[in-house]
Amino acid sequence: MTTLKDQIIREKLPKHIAIIMDGNGRWAEEKGQDRLYGHFHGVESVRNIVEGCAELGVGYLTLYAFSTENWDRPANEVSGLMELLVETIRKEVPTLNKNNIRLHVIGAMDMLPEYALNALQEALDLTSVNTGLNLVMALSYSSRWELVQAVQKIAADVQDGKMEPEQITQDVLQQYLSTSKFPDPELMIRTSGEYRISNFLLYQLAYAELYFTSTRWPDFRKEHLYEAILDYQNRERRFGKTTRQIQEEAGATTE
Ligand code: IPE
Ligand code: IPE
Ligand code: MG
Repeated sequence: MTTLKDQIIREKLPKHIAIIMDGNGRWAEEKGQDRLYGHFHGVESVRNIVEGCAELGVGYLTLYAFSTENWDRPANEVSGLMELLVETIRKEVPTLNKNNIRLHVIGAMDMLPEYALNALQEALDLTSVNTGLNLVMALSYSSRWELVQAVQKIAADVQDGKMEPEQITQDVLQQYLSTSKFPDPELMIRTSGEYRISNFLLYQLAYAELYFTSTRWPDFRKEHLYEAILDYQNRERRFGKTTRQIQEEAGATTE
């Protein structure tokens, strides 16, 4: 019997997968539990999916763990979630190193408490030489925050005479984003049945394939990831061109 994993065409693997890990709160509430119980179980899904991506050979995995808007949640949820995220990252460092996974963080770091910043910096340093999967945690991240940051830095560089306004191209703008070192995501998955982007990578997702599933994040496992990748591999990515052009180009490269 061929498994879902066997059906994945390795040559057509998305280089970068981004995931909005949604539904922890509802998952817990449906079980009559506190929302933090859902976040706690969401960690197991993170482990499973990171491992799944590393096994497949995916280059980049970006996980939306906490948005700048999430700071407005009740204080006990914010502090509980922050501690959970930071503690998990700290504890996972040996596993990340064992699997050659390099950690990155994107987001408004100045909003994080100091203990969190220190722990994150340590994890970043300890995994910095790894060359396998790049695991990007979007923590205190929002796309509008990121775009405003980029515009401010570009304006300052123009003002300092480092650049002329005409020199601001798409490539230059990309260099000012917090994702400057990563290619754009090719596949974006959102769990838990919401059909929205919630301020995540608005610029970078321009041509990403979007995949929505009703599965709540704490229930999401490798098999669900394989389903999303297979769905992605069945899509025709046209980038504004026609089907015929895409087919001709594909023919030209396989000849
Ligand atoms: C996702 O789950 C985790 C974060 C946003 C931090 P939620 O906490 O949003 O869970 P729901 O969407 O309320 O069920
Ligand atoms: C998006 O989920 C943010 C993360 C998963 C970290 P939310 O639960 O905060 O998004 P909305 O409020 O439903 O749009
Ligand atoms: Mg949510």
